[in-house]
Amino acid sequence: MVNKSNPRLKQQLEEQPLDTQGFDRPRALVKAIDEDLAPLLDLVKRPIVSANQFSLNQILQLARLAARFETQPQMITRPLTGKILISAFYEPSTRTRLSFESAWHRLGGDIMSITDPASTGIAKGESLYDIGEMLNHYGDLVVLRDSDEHSVYEMLESLRIPIINAGNGIDEHPTQALADIYALMKWKPGFFCKPEIDPSDKVRIGIVGVPGRMRTVRSLLTMLALFSHAISELVLISDEGDPFSDGQRAELETAGLNIRLATSLDGELPGLDVVYINTIAWVGDDYEELGSRYKLDRKSPLKPEAIILHPLARGAELDPGLDDTPHNWYFAQARGAVFMRMALLSSILKSFT
Ligand code: CP
Repeated sequence: MVNKSNPRLKQQLEEQPLDTQGFDRPRALVKAIDEDLAPLLDLVKRPIVSANQFSLNQILQLARLAARFETQPQMITRPLTGKILISAFYEPSTRTRLSFESAWHRLGGDIMSITDPASTGIAKGESLYDIGEMLNHYGDLVVLRDSDEHSVYEMLESLRIPIINAGNGIDEHPTQALADIYALMKWKPGFFCKPEIDPSDKVRIGIVGVPGRMRTVRSLLTMLALFSHAISELVLISDEGDPFSDGQRAELETAGLNIRLATSLDGELPGLDVVYINTIAWVGDDYEELGSRYKLDRKSPLKPEAIILHPLARGAELDPGLDDTPHNWYFAQARGAVFMRMALLSSILKSFT
């Protein structure tokens, strides 16, 4: 039975006053990074499938552009008017699909959305190669999520318009990593873009997850390696003996990350500045919960100033009791994804406004 006496029905919904909407940090980020569009020109008409395609300068400039979109919406001149996004999500999504579509709409474009592969020729055995060939004629950019890690590469073979990987099985989720880094950069505006950082100021980041089987964690670690100069230690918290895929840890360490494995979350929390947690890995047509014994709640021994990031959707590992605490940066992370995706889309289509 629906509760029709819910007090929210009688109340006017409150608008947040402007000064608490968090514009100060993205504004400070715009000021901290000198504008240089040259690194973004290398993204024009390029497919995006992996986090390792990005340079440090590209990420800094994307973050700057995202912060401009976030703080100066009046500057957006609808540069994608007349352009069509093909949004193909063959696996469930709340944030990635809707934030990509929101980003495209805010830039003035139109969208064709596929949320069920059975509604396309896939149901009749049509190959992604052939579907890609058709999409060339229908739109200007494809965003694809598919539980098969090979699908994005198969479609890429026949596409002459750019494609963005919005999550391919357990492999990669590069635009989620961009959103994660954008949240970190807003947390400490001006910090991550410094070329050199005093060792005593570096941050310690804890990641609860399995980098070998979680696309969000794999892509995030790849991007964090570009910021190793700002990270004193990366603590990987997992109850698996070897949570990395073959060669992954060595590659990250060669790139500069100082990695330590740990099994106790509560044992590490008092020393962490950032806690990133995820327990879901999408495997085949279903999801698997990994490390579900790890949980964060109001009683967790977090540093008072520590922030929590989570790619969401959350499960029991992240108690909603933390939502109204200063540790909650996961909602800002999801919100910022819209602006980061606007920055990426406008760079690929060379429409900086
Ligand atoms: N973070 C993320 O990929 O969320 P969705 O599955 O809702 O897109």
